[in-house]
Amino acid sequence: MEKKSKNTGCCSGGSCGMPMSGKTVKEIVKEQYSSLVKDEGLKEKAKKKGKSEYTKAIGYKDDELKEIPMDAVEYAFGCGNPLSYAQVKEGDIVLDLGSGAGIDVLLASKKVGRKGKVIGIDMTQEMIEKARANAERLGADNIEFCQGEIENIPRENESVDWIISNCVINLSPDKKKVFSEAFRVLKPGGKMLISDIVTEDLPEEIKNSLMAWVGCVAGAMREKDYLDTIKKAGFKNVRVVGKFTFEADAVKGMMEDCSTGIPDSLNEIYNKYKDEINGKVASIKVFAEKPIG
Ligand SMILES: C[S@@+](CC[C@H](N)C(=O)[O-])C[C@H]1O[C@@H](n2cnc3c(N)ncnc32)[C@H](O)[C@@H]1O
Repeated sequence: MEKKSKNTGCCSGGSCGMPMSGKTVKEIVKEQYSSLVKDEGLKEKAKKKGKSEYTKAIGYKDDELKEIPMDAVEYAFGCGNPLSYAQVKEGDIVLDLGSGAGIDVLLASKKVGRKGKVIGIDMTQEMIEKARANAERLGADNIEFCQGEIENIPRENESVDWIISNCVINLSPDKKKVFSEAFRVLKPGGKMLISDIVTEDLPEEIKNSLMAWVGCVAGAMREKDYLDTIKKAGFKNVRVVGKFTFEADAVKGMMEDCSTGIPDSLNEIYNKYKDEINGKVASIKVFAEKPIG
């Protein structure tokens, strides 16, 4: 069941600065990521905040970033570099869940070469358009971007070798469905490498803030629950292969990056709880495999 924002406000307590709308969480996430892509000032903001530096700090190498259009880096909203933990090889078919402006799809396209293929799925039309423009700039002909939801992946059963995803599944209101869909579309023996946010218990006011959800914090699960959800979908060899924990100001930075302006209400919540969120939000890289038999 899709979580709905309450009619009394955008989130319980009406604290997240969103209009009273009764929209679903997914609709709000889509609206926000669509506005981000349309935000003319974002490139400037990205430069000022040293986006390239941040991208390198979360695991991308200078050399690989130089090989792809700058636009894909400026509009990247990930929390790690999933491909740096995945042994994707020439000829593989790779699927990126929530591909955004395409950073990981473009990088994967170089690894799989002309015999392989990379498919990016994203529910936000504007992201898909931006990603297609970036693929065109790169001149890659082994890439397909497809608008769709990761809870209903528009692909055939057992059709891909690798699934990657970067800071997306935390945004889904139905993570169980996402992992069961990922399991369905992977070939037997196929592999998955997810970079995502997990949290320890956070104050209710943050968990209830839709803007904190959009900013990849409020919707995030506890690490153990996240791994259990993957295992219950049928995956084996589920393990965390990388992890870094954020300090409070980095959490704020992440929420700021994912909105066209951090609302005052979210600032207030942050100031009130910064000691409690310090060290409780982490980026993990999770590996999992679909059994062969
Ligand atoms: C934080 S951004 C990450 C984008 C990209 N992976 C990256 O590293 O730059 C989240 C992306 O996931 C997409 N998204 C969120 N929920 C989704 C869902 N349920 N189905 C498909 N796409 C979704 C958003 O449109 C957005 O482009």
